[in-house]
Amino acid sequence: MKNENFLWGGAISACQSEGAYNKDGRTPSIFDTLPLPNEGRWALYDNPSKALCGDFDTYPSHHAINFYDTYKEDLKLLSKLGINCFRTSISWSRVIPSLDGQVNEKGLQFYVDLFTECKKYGMKPLVTLSHFDTPLYLTETYDGWSHKETLNHFLRYAEIVMTELKDLVTLWIPINEINMILHIPYLGGGVVESSNKMKAAHNMLLGSAGVVKLAHEINHDNKVGCMLAAGLYYPYTSHPQDVYCAQKENRKMYLFTDVQIRGSYPKWFTMQSGLQITENERNLLRDYTADFIAVSYYTSRLFADENRVDIEGVDGNSAKTLRNKYLDITPWGRQIDPLGLKTTLIDMYDRYQTPIFIVENGLGVEDTLDHDCINDDDRIDFIQQHISQMTQAISEGVDVMGYLTWGIIDVISAGGGEMKKRYGLVYVDQDDYGNGSKRRIPKKSFYWYQKEIERRNFTK
Ligand code: BG6
Repeated sequence: MKNENFLWGGAISACQSEGAYNKDGRTPSIFDTLPLPNEGRWALYDNPSKALCGDFDTYPSHHAINFYDTYKEDLKLLSKLGINCFRTSISWSRVIPSLDGQVNEKGLQFYVDLFTECKKYGMKPLVTLSHFDTPLYLTETYDGWSHKETLNHFLRYAEIVMTELKDLVTLWIPINEINMILHIPYLGGGVVESSNKMKAAHNMLLGSAGVVKLAHEINHDNKVGCMLAAGLYYPYTSHPQDVYCAQKENRKMYLFTDVQIRGSYPKWFTMQSGLQITENERNLLRDYTADFIAVSYYTSRLFADENRVDIEGVDGNSAKTLRNKYLDITPWGRQIDPLGLKTTLIDMYDRYQTPIFIVENGLGVEDTLDHDCINDDDRIDFIQQHISQMTQAISEGVDVMGYLTWGIIDVISAGGGEMKKRYGLVYVDQDDYGNGSKRRIPKKSFYWYQKEIERRNFTK
């Protein structure tokens, strides 16, 4: 399979890489209020108001891997992979640090410089406008996306950055893994009051449609993707009750893409949600659907009728899943299912017939640094198997735009804030507390990926 337009690269996010959390005028985002797991990070999923108290010792995002200061060297190293695409996000509170809406010119300039550097190396930037980092001032004032005012702030911010970057960026994602608002509302949309999450989801969908409208007005070449944390739900058994329960979960997973690609809420949802939608909102959602579907894929999920089955649950990338006995599992409890990627892609493409872009896929495990070498064969195996399933899906008729591996350079984990759960092809010599030389060391997977891109001839 040869396709010179195929986008081949890696992804990170601002809040997990940049650090410099209060430098050059930036103010905190919700991500900066999250401590390490042993200081209570997991409790924050249930009671995020604790995060706002600010009495923890270590906030990993405050320094992250310091990409804000090292981006030039980091991009230079990554360019040696031969990649033609690099995904990161813009830190909203770096560009607009306060409620008064004043633009922080230094913050904006950082992104001009960053994407100019990408251009220099022939890497097309894929830019997420909001990746788990709603500005803290919007959470404190409006409970994040729960309020329409946050939507207004977002659209203004989006217009400012898309206008400023119009000669440098043409690929956009308004909101990272939009469906996460239903699973982890604080990370997903800065929402503390969990009963507000459906209201927030609706505002986020309006925000995404608004970005499509703005993007197409600002530059005809702009393409906007909606983004879903994907992974099909399998039925636990062939018992019709399990099959039905899994189907219900799949319908919920597709709720967001149904709106963003088909242009309206599915009937099952409007019948039971009681959500108030105005005529103008309905028209906006209908007229400004996304140009492509961006997906993160880490694992499939397994579901059963809870009244019938009582077994162990594991991590389904923040969504609930049962343990699938046919799959291997990582020490962090995430099940490994490369074939599930193909199944998910086929299912999704059959539903929407819209190009799909895999913008996150990777293995988060501990790595051992041994005489400046990291032999991460498990990661190579993981990525290789997923790429192989992706190419099979393509040969079975799915239109895939590209493949980006997550955390192409080690970043702090979103779920745990840890450094030791690493996804990168480049090792960053730093522990959970920020100790270490911060040196960047290519892993064995780095050299493997470089050859893989060349071999598959997806190069620029
Ligand atoms: C995705 C997120 O859900 O999963 C990333 O978009 C995140 O931000 C990635 O890092 C892996 O999850 P974690 O919790 O292992 O970092």
